[in-house]
Amino acid sequence: MSAFFHLFFFSLVIPLTLATTSTKLISQGTTISKPNCQNKCGNITIPYPFGIGTDCSIDPWFSINCNTTSLNNSPKPFISQNNLEIFDITDDKLLIRNTISAGCYDALGNRIRRDRVIINLATSPFTFSDSNKFNVVGCDDLAITIGSEGSNFSTGCFALCSSTDDLIEGECSGLGCCQTDIPKGIKKLNFSISSLDAHINVFSFNPCGYAFLGDPNRLRFSVSDVNDSSYEEKIIQNVPVVLDWEIGIRNCSEATKSNDFACFGNSVCVDSETGFGGYRCNCSKGYEGNPYLSPGCTDINECVNNPCDEHGICTNSPGSFHCSCKKGYRGDGIKDGRGCTADNSGFPVIKFSLGVSFGFLAIIIAVTVIYFSTQKWKLMKLREKFFQLNGGLLLKQQLSSNESSMKSTKIFTAEELEKATNNYADDRILGRGGYGVVYKGILYDKKLVAIKKSRVMDQTQIEQFINEVIILTQVNHRNVVNLLGCCLETEVPMLVYEYISNGTLYHHIHNNGGMPWFSWDNRLRIATEAAGALAYLHSAAGMPIIHRDVKSPNILLDEYYTAKIADFGASRLVPIDQTQVSTLVQGTLGYLDPEYFQTSQLTEKSDVYSFGVVLAELMTCRKPLTNTKSDEDKSLATFFVVALKENRLFQIMDPRVLREGSLEQIRIVGELVKRCLKLQGEERPTMKEAAMELESLRKLSKHPWAGQEVEEEEIGLMSEQTSDLYSVGVSPDLSTGEYTGERSLGSTPLIYPVHGPR
Ligand SMILES: *[C@@H]1O[C@H](CO)[C@@H](O)[C@H](O)[C@H]1NC(C)=O
Ligand SMILES: *[C@@H]1O[C@H](CO)[C@@H](O)[C@H](O)[C@H]1NC(C)=O
Ligand SMILES: *[C@@H]1O[C@H](CO)[C@@H](O)[C@H](O)[C@H]1NC(C)=O
Ligand SMILES: *[C@@H]1O[C@H](CO)[C@@H](O)[C@H](O)[C@H]1NC(C)=O
Ligand SMILES: *[C@@H]1O[C@H](CO)[C@@H](O)[C@H](O)[C@H]1NC(C)=O
Ligand SMILES: *[C@@H]1O[C@H](CO)[C@@H](O)[C@H](O)[C@H]1NC(C)=O
Ligand SMILES: *[C@@H]1O[C@H](CO)[C@@H](O)[C@H](O)[C@H]1NC(C)=O
Repeated sequence: MSAFFHLFFFSLVIPLTLATTSTKLISQGTTISKPNCQNKCGNITIPYPFGIGTDCSIDPWFSINCNTTSLNNSPKPFISQNNLEIFDITDDKLLIRNTISAGCYDALGNRIRRDRVIINLATSPFTFSDSNKFNVVGCDDLAITIGSEGSNFSTGCFALCSSTDDLIEGECSGLGCCQTDIPKGIKKLNFSISSLDAHINVFSFNPCGYAFLGDPNRLRFSVSDVNDSSYEEKIIQNVPVVLDWEIGIRNCSEATKSNDFACFGNSVCVDSETGFGGYRCNCSKGYEGNPYLSPGCTDINECVNNPCDEHGICTNSPGSFHCSCKKGYRGDGIKDGRGCTADNSGFPVIKFSLGVSFGFLAIIIAVTVIYFSTQKWKLMKLREKFFQLNGGLLLKQQLSSNESSMKSTKIFTAEELEKATNNYADDRILGRGGYGVVYKGILYDKKLVAIKKSRVMDQTQIEQFINEVIILTQVNHRNVVNLLGCCLETEVPMLVYEYISNGTLYHHIHNNGGMPWFSWDNRLRIATEAAGALAYLHSAAGMPIIHRDVKSPNILLDEYYTAKIADFGASRLVPIDQTQVSTLVQGTLGYLDPEYFQTSQLTEKSDVYSFGVVLAELMTCRKPLTNTKSDEDKSLATFFVVALKENRLFQIMDPRVLREGSLEQIRIVGELVKRCLKLQGEERPTMKEAAMELESLRKLSKHPWAGQEVEEEEIGLMSEQTSDLYSVGVSPDLSTGEYTGERSLGSTPLIYPVHGPR
């Protein structure tokens, strides 16, 4: 048992006087008990859910035994289940007759009496209320009480003194009297009084010590208490032990659902705070009565105690009341409020107040109108400010000086884009990245667009930004996602691109594998289209546009699976702060040109390297970076180059590529990848060369016998995985002898299963 002790030290004397006020919160005159049930036992009112006998109470624990056998006294109520005598019942407390532990000594220090008090409420719906205090009265006494059933606790108190002169009338502060708190939620208490020196030194004025629990409001320490032989009786008669009571073991939210819910109309359910999970009912504000009895609480007619001014008129309403003033008087009519005052000015006042009201109304309308127009004006000003900050004037100027760009660059208004994106709704988000967020937008003319909201813009780069917007809107290539225009009225400029419907190439390679359209021919076509577009950008008149971030996620596919390069020049368009550089590098690791990475020298050849990786991805369906243990396999570029060096090219191909492509084609593309991935930029082909090479390969695949070959393989060998390899075995291209080495590797698990071609 985890115990904590509150020990209070003192020395001195004692007496006690008692306040006798029993408050009955349930007012007389309303229903108190169940119909046909006695509502009193002696002079104690028994409100339902308590009742005399089980039929009159809500459950056996609330059943009261009214003992009428004692002749001289009035009948006394007891809790039937444990025979504790009831002192009183209020609407949230049950007061029971006290039990005291007294310790008495004779002049020689022999103990002539000591009682142990154990009050056990376990299994009952009652707990000791924390409004009780544990009290010790005496001049050589201490007591420790142990609480259990619920939470475990213990506490104690010392009451000491050396003469009655030490004692203070009305103060229970350790001198002859001590008090300490007890926690709520306890159902069992066990305590007994003890003495330090058997009262030898204080016997002349204090032969007994007392320990008891009780409501401190009814207890007042008096100096005479320490030598009062009837002290125990006084306490029992006047100081009850306060118990909390509650209904059931369910809290309000649970109980409301059950059909034995105890709270009736115009009442609220209040969760009990004892920790045992029950509840109580309380009349709603403005209502009175017994909430546990049907039909519930009734309206209080407040007008009975007229709360209105003498010139007022009181009107009662359910749960409330209203005061108004008689004719000729004005005010709120409430006695303690403004009351009613004589209305001397009569009719003119009405006119005057009407005038004032209309005046106010007019002012309010005017203020509202002014407010809203100011807001709108402010918004317009803000947009104008952003437009200028973002280089809008510069852009306009550039556009007007250059007629041709006028056609392609559109400056969108903030409002237009807000409408298009449904106010940047979450369900319009197409993607997020280090650069910002891309939204799908629908313009007035139903045209679909992708709207890119960038991160914060660096003011020093505005001019460059504007120039590049103009350049990029000039780009017009069927394999490039077109920049349609921009919006400068927002805090960060926004770019508006054409909308491409079929997702990214990355998605089709890695997540959507095996779609019928993703054939070798189509892969070659996509590679060729992408290469062509990059070559076009590199050769753009004036300033070559380096993409900087070529990767399969940046190659989009439209409804006909035509490749569209996206985000070109984005890294130049949108200045990147330090953090973004790191996200970008992370995001593109695997595609990043090692030379560029080391030297920071950006050339067109960096795009070529990245394109090589995309090509390798297309052929192998491997991700540019994988999480394998070996470093060599981690990067697709390295993996590819090493495989090629070791003559294992065909083993790392996507099976479908092997099935559909001729070995010659695969070999040529493999070689192209190898050249693109050269570490030295100048050893790599230009994008144009790569594009032309791929283009001629596609023509080769159109070669009649090559096409036939593909078909034959497909018909014969489609069903089984292992047959992919077999097709390699029979391919006439092997007869060139160039790849006989591959064939001898038949037992390599990656492509040739052990039970492979025999
Ligand atoms: C009940 O009656 C006793 C004596 O009969 C009296 O002392 C006590 O104050 C009464 N209690 C109430 C609440 O009226
Ligand atoms: C009623 O009170 C009398 C005297 O106080 C006692 O002897 C008797 O046992 C009590 N009866 C019940 C049922 O508690
Ligand atoms: C109180 O003590 C008893 C006996 O040691 C133990 O079984 C019970 O779990 C304790 N209760 C709490 C709430 O600690
Ligand atoms: C009351 O407390 C005393 C002292 O701690 C202990 O010996 C006794 O067993 C307890 N009685 C009950 C009923 O818990
Ligand atoms: C204490 O009370 C006893 C008897 O009630 C009395 O004889 C004695 O004189 C009292 N002592 C003092 C100091 O009042
Ligand atoms: C009521 O009791 C249920 C079940 O014990 C509990 O899930 C819920 O949180 C309680 N609600 C409140 C307000 O304590
Ligand atoms: C019950 O209602 C009374 C009167 O409206 C209010 O004073 C009291 O605080 C309420 N009790 C609880 C537990 O809400």
